[in-house]
Amino acid sequence: MNTQILNMDPKNIPFAAELLKKGEIVAIPTETVYGLAGNGLSADAVKKIFEAKGRPSDNPLILHISSVDWLYRYAENVPDLALRLAERFWPGPLTMIMPKKSIVPMETSGGLDTVAFRMPNNQWTLKLIEACDFPLAAPSANLSGLPSPTRAGYVYNDMEGKIPLIIDGGQCFYGLESTVITFTDNGVRILRPGGVTAEMLKRFCFVEIDKAVTESLQNGDKVLSPGMKYKHYSPKAEVFMVKCNDNESFADFVNKNFDENTIVLAKKADNIKAKTLPYGKTARQEAEKLFASLRKADEMGAKKIYVQAPNKEGIGLAVYNRLIRAAAFKVIEL
Ligand code: TXA
Ligand code: MG
Repeated sequence: MNTQILNMDPKNIPFAAELLKKGEIVAIPTETVYGLAGNGLSADAVKKIFEAKGRPSDNPLILHISSVDWLYRYAENVPDLALRLAERFWPGPLTMIMPKKSIVPMETSGGLDTVAFRMPNNQWTLKLIEACDFPLAAPSANLSGLPSPTRAGYVYNDMEGKIPLIIDGGQCFYGLESTVITFTDNGVRILRPGGVTAEMLKRFCFVEIDKAVTESLQNGDKVLSPGMKYKHYSPKAEVFMVKCNDNESFADFVNKNFDENTIVLAKKADNIKAKTLPYGKTARQEAEKLFASLRKADEMGAKKIYVQAPNKEGIGLAVYNRLIRAAAFKVIEL
């Protein structure tokens, strides 16, 4: 199959919608990462998504919707809190899990009786969803296990020949996937941290952070989000998360331990003798650069990647969560 790349021009919406209505899958831009979209109400379309990604079929997909009203089409019961959060954070990087109606096929929900919803903050993509008049099931548009794509070119690297169309919307604003929450008796539990942070949610309700966000799951732990149990976001090189108190001790560590196949992601690159790639001084920049730099390190043939640990506040918790998985929980404490 020939994979076409078109830009985010409104005149390309009818063509993309036509492919989706025929049951094809199309890569779409969002403010978080690129998504691999298909008709979320069609078991056949959803199967194509799982196939193109090589994703385990028990890992559920997010339904992307263009209007809050659509929750009533597809959710069995919509908590009041969900409406308040939608009002504040949609369109935006917040995904909410609710009991599903039977119109949503089990293939979409990975066999669960719940389904996840998100309204992405990208006008082009919202118009595409409206034109389809069905929700778009869309996981990140990477091959399963690799870092999520933050640019159309990275989608092309993973999906060339497997899908008919990629819509190029440039660099994604956040660079990390959305915050995923589920509802508890008195608030929400964060299953995956993202751009809508725990601090932001705390203004509305009681917030718990699932243990799997920062720790490796042990045998016997209950898996609330199937995505948490798989190795994730990993480039080919071996990644290490390095925890340290300051930039100087990180630089000292790297300068003693690097070789020609080492790549480093540092908050401050000045005193580092190894090759470095863009990362950031703030958690927002780290979020934006992490996946792109991990992919770039692979292109450069890195064997080992040292990444300075982010602090866990705000969107930093999301960076920490993705990085510790990319590192397969290999942490060096200085
Ligand atoms: O920002 C995003 O969320 C991007 C863009 C494309 O919207 N999408 C994305 O999808 O990251 P995906 O499939 O790569 O990640 C969805 C995560 C997975 O960890 C999955 O296990 C979890 O959400 N999830 C989805 N539905 C769920 C459900 N019903 N119960 C528990 N976890 C669920
Ligand atoms: Mg993903």
